[in-house]
Amino acid sequence: MNKSRLEEIIRVDHAGEHGATSIYKGTLDILNLFGDKETISIIQDMAEGEKKHVKEFNRLIKDKSIRPTALLPIWKMAGYSLGALSAIHSKNAIMVCTEAVEEVIDKHYSDQIEELEQSGKEESLLNSIREFHAEEVEHEMIAREEMDEISPIMNIFKDVVKIGCKTAIKISEKI
Ligand SMILES: [Fe+2]
Ligand SMILES: [Fe+2]
Repeated sequence: MNKSRLEEIIRVDHAGEHGATSIYKGTLDILNLFGDKETISIIQDMAEGEKKHVKEFNRLIKDKSIRPTALLPIWKMAGYSLGALSAIHSKNAIMVCTEAVEEVIDKHYSDQIEELEQSGKEESLLNSIREFHAEEVEHEMIAREEMDEISPIMNIFKDVVKIGCKTAIKISEKI
């Protein structure tokens, strides 16, 4: 694996974990006003996980002197809005949003794990991503369990969120 590919991996994961943290921040800011205790605690647990992921990628960006994506402020704002709007809509929207995001991240981290395994280098990064991947899959499962029946509109919402995440991933590797 060459240096620039490694930088892309860390750059996009750093962006994604910040995005995820912002989504949960938006969700929790609204839930703290209107939400029920149970949903708040579910989301808080997930948000704690994301904080740990962000911390590790902040460290990697700094230690390896990698330029973060120029669009970080945009992803943070978009993530926050998405989380807040989902929470304003309903608990179901929060869970659909979480499932959508985590499905994309699940696939994204799976692909990276495969790529890093094949390269045979970057053992410690590989281990971090494996650990984080397992936690993202857990978030995905929780969202699915907490979700009610999904309406056609919610299905469209889910697709839109997934397309948004995939686009953000593509852009953040490079820019
Ligand atoms: Fe994460
Ligand atoms: Fe997550």
